[in-house]
Amino acid sequence: MNEAREPSTPRTLGSLGQVGPLSFGCWRLTGSDSANSRVISAAIDTGMNLVDNADVYGLDWGGTHFGACEEALGRVLAAMPGLRNKIVLATKGGIIPGVPYDSSSRYLIKACEASLSRLGVDHVDLYQIHRPDHYAHPQEIATAFESLRSRGLVREFGVSNYTPSQISALNSFMEQGLVSVQPQFSANHLDPMRDGTFDLCQESSLTPLAWSPLAGGALATGVGIRSELIAILDDLAIRESVTRSAVAIAFVLAHPAQPVAIIGTQNVTRIGELSRSTKISLSRTDLYNIIQASDGGPLP
Ligand SMILES: NC(=O)c1ccc[n+]([C@@H]2O[C@H](COP(=O)([O-])OP(=O)(O)OC[C@H]3O[C@@H](n4cnc5c(N)ncnc54)[C@H](OP(=O)(O)O)[C@@H]3O)[C@@H](O)[C@H]2O)c1
Repeated sequence: MNEAREPSTPRTLGSLGQVGPLSFGCWRLTGSDSANSRVISAAIDTGMNLVDNADVYGLDWGGTHFGACEEALGRVLAAMPGLRNKIVLATKGGIIPGVPYDSSSRYLIKACEASLSRLGVDHVDLYQIHRPDHYAHPQEIATAFESLRSRGLVREFGVSNYTPSQISALNSFMEQGLVSVQPQFSANHLDPMRDGTFDLCQESSLTPLAWSPLAGGALATGVGIRSELIAILDDLAIRESVTRSAVAIAFVLAHPAQPVAIIGTQNVTRIGELSRSTKISLSRTDLYNIIQASDGGPLP
């Protein structure tokens, strides 16, 4: 049985070994190459050694095209020799705007090869299906994964936005199981705690990678968030002498499924502020106060 762990405890990703509790996300990696290098260096220096990308990133947030954020990360990797070996490199595929999802074996293999080419690497450490394709049999997906693994193009696999039963179905066809799932999770979005995702993670040694841990920035700005949730986060921020955002990230890290929080900021100063979340220990009362404020009412 897992003992209670500090939020700073490294997380294990199968054969990839350990990653930090905070990860750097590339959805908004649409700055200049020098700005991108600065923010990625800052993230790595603070222990965010898992770098999460996707082929579809670059279509919004000032990006220009499908694949643009993988290309941008590829340029950073090319300009900083040695960086590739310091990171656990993750990307995703399976979304095609207009289709919108394809997890057929043929497409996944082609998509993964294209990601490697844009990133300028011979393999990625973690390849994830971005969203479930209801028309792909899990056995077909598992076959594609094993082919990519046997060719040395991918070391481990994960899924994103899958239901617990979709995760189990795919896992049952894999020789070497999935190592991660990537659900949306934050103080403002509690579903994985309640829909079985985190239970399955604990049962099957899957590491949850929490996307939008600040609700896309809304928990930082307060826009569209219940005032009682902002108030409790602010109280804890004063008590801990950190920012409200750092408390919100500490909430994500506190679950015993040991989520990794994929941080989305592209701001070096905020990277430093958010890294303080790994030093905050929230009590059960703190955590349930956040949950009740998020729900907008008391638990029974
Ligand atoms: N699998 C999926 O379907 C999926 C979906 C969405 C995201 N993701 C992954 O999750 C990662 C993170 O998502 P996210 O970008 O939505 O994460 P987030 O950390 O919840 O939000 C980051 C956004 O909040 C803004 N922000 C405003 N004030 C901030 C403050 N005080 N501190 C920190 N950020 C502040 C940031 O702007 P500044 O840059 O100006 O700080 C940035 O635009 C993505 O990069 C991607 O890797 C996955």
